[in-house]
Amino acid sequence: MCGIVGYIGNQKVSGILLNGLKRMEYRGYDSAGVSILTDGSIETIKKSGKVAQLEKLVDHTQFDSTIGIAHTRWATHGEPNDINAHPHHDSSNKISIVHNGIIENYAILKKNLIEKGYTFRSDTDSEVLAVLIGALYDRVKNMEEAVRYALNEVEGTYGLCVLSVYEPDKIIAARRGSPMVLGIGEGEYIVASDAAAIIQHTRQVIYLSDNEMAILTRDGYETKTIKNEKTTNTIHEIEFDLEQIEKAGFPHFMLKEIFEQPDTFRDSFRGRLLADKGNVKLGGLTQAEEQLRKAKRILITACGTSWHSALVGEYIIENLAQIPVEVEYASEFRYRNTPLYPDDIVIAISQSGETADTLAAVYETKQKGATAIGIVNVVGSSIARSTDAGIYIHAGPEIGVASTKAFTSQICVLALIGLYLGRMKNLSQSDGKRIGAAMLEIPNQIEQILNKSDEIKAMAKKFTKSRNFLYLGRGYNFPVALEGALKMKEISYIHAEGYPAAEMKHGPIALIDDNMPVVFIATKDEIYEKVISNIQEVRARRGKVIAIASEGDNDITNYADHVIYIPNTVPMLTPVLAVIPLQLMAYYMAVELGCNVDQPRNLAKSVTVE
Ligand code: G6P
Repeated sequence: MCGIVGYIGNQKVSGILLNGLKRMEYRGYDSAGVSILTDGSIETIKKSGKVAQLEKLVDHTQFDSTIGIAHTRWATHGEPNDINAHPHHDSSNKISIVHNGIIENYAILKKNLIEKGYTFRSDTDSEVLAVLIGALYDRVKNMEEAVRYALNEVEGTYGLCVLSVYEPDKIIAARRGSPMVLGIGEGEYIVASDAAAIIQHTRQVIYLSDNEMAILTRDGYETKTIKNEKTTNTIHEIEFDLEQIEKAGFPHFMLKEIFEQPDTFRDSFRGRLLADKGNVKLGGLTQAEEQLRKAKRILITACGTSWHSALVGEYIIENLAQIPVEVEYASEFRYRNTPLYPDDIVIAISQSGETADTLAAVYETKQKGATAIGIVNVVGSSIARSTDAGIYIHAGPEIGVASTKAFTSQICVLALIGLYLGRMKNLSQSDGKRIGAAMLEIPNQIEQILNKSDEIKAMAKKFTKSRNFLYLGRGYNFPVALEGALKMKEISYIHAEGYPAAEMKHGPIALIDDNMPVVFIATKDEIYEKVISNIQEVRARRGKVIAIASEGDNDITNYADHVIYIPNTVPMLTPVLAVIPLQLMAYYMAVELGCNVDQPRNLAKSVTVE
């Protein structure tokens, strides 16, 4: 949510900043801006809209400067216009900042600053931080101190970069609650919200901690807490490659990521699944092995798509390990007094590892003395670093705002955890082997579904005039119904609701008429017949039925207007296959309707505000 980048080094900065913003545009695209230090003054160019709009205004020949900061915004305070765009300046235009996060006490700070004669131009909370730093500089005449004092006064969260004409060869970065990664290159430093903006320059990075500042000059860098205590940081290596954050010939990141799923699913179990032994090896859980062995209850918490995979995880873990599992939205978990005991395990699932509510749920878990385990994609992210133990899903960078490959990889890891716990308890080796063998098949089976993309595209085209969709499934496929509906809403702006199929009778059935497409996930399992009854109920009301069905089920053509077949697998892995046609259907529908698939309106990939 908002992407920021700062650069100091030996190359011309304007192109570097714009490139960095493009790499982080998935974090927000309401406005974009740059501040470049040139000839003793700060040149700021900012514009509402996407980075491409800003790029038209930046004349690279105009700047020889090698130091600057930049921002791409997801609006919280103040509408997304040119004035509210970042960077923001202090009253005297000598200091410029870019900020990701929320300054919660901005109103009182602003009032105090206005009383002292300082002026403001925008409606944003971030400008208050810029003006406050300026006011403090007027007093202490030292940028580092001014920033430090300001950060001790503000409440809320920040990822921050500060540039000033007072100390022109310096960028000060800081973090509390919003990610900041510092890239250490040859004669250059680049600091950003995400390693994606850094990898072109260097693979060596430091992940700043909460309440930590980095002071970057042309000669080196220093890190300190905002209480002025020196800190030391481990230098990490970025694990992904540049190609992974490019479209590789696909028209959209989302389509690329859908098509990556055979590989990403395989990467999630690689080296962990011991299929011939019916068991798994999960190094990331070693530290929590004892707690897992004695766990009486597991709570899974997450947001968005990750919450849907959590629901699948609930069914899998309860089935394989016979441990009671509850699933809760992280935003609810953190604000109600959820009873938690030392023997409880809380699993936090997050693609980005930065979702504010999920991170807060992890803190709450630790505060109450329970064990927190992360299922995270982004290496080095806040959730990955704050949990007691965890498993990376290894899906590689996910850039499309609508999550796809992370969902299937999360289910993969949840199935591995189910097997791990199950084999610790009563799950037989033969059952473990059966599930392991099914898991090995999944990548090829996903491939088979992807080969039907033209068929799915043709079907999607038939429904572009529909304004509502209903998605229904039962058992393991109920969360798939929710996820299918979410994908449709997110990128095509068509209203879609997911429901447990049998619950349809308690409300949604009232909506059904001959204009209403109803997507059933009706794979052959023990409740197949019940789902067929639900299909009949829709047919009787002239609803249009789209069925995701198991290969070989010829009967279903008698009940459904359109059938997409998926290969057979064990019921608990069906969601991984059933979701693929739904991802493709939402994608093709959105493309057909002319929507911006990778950057749907109002959404952001990484939600670092509450
Ligand atoms: C946002 C994204 C979703 C994502 C959700 C949770 O809403 O647009 O795609 O599922 O956040 O994100 P996380 O990174 O915690 O999985």
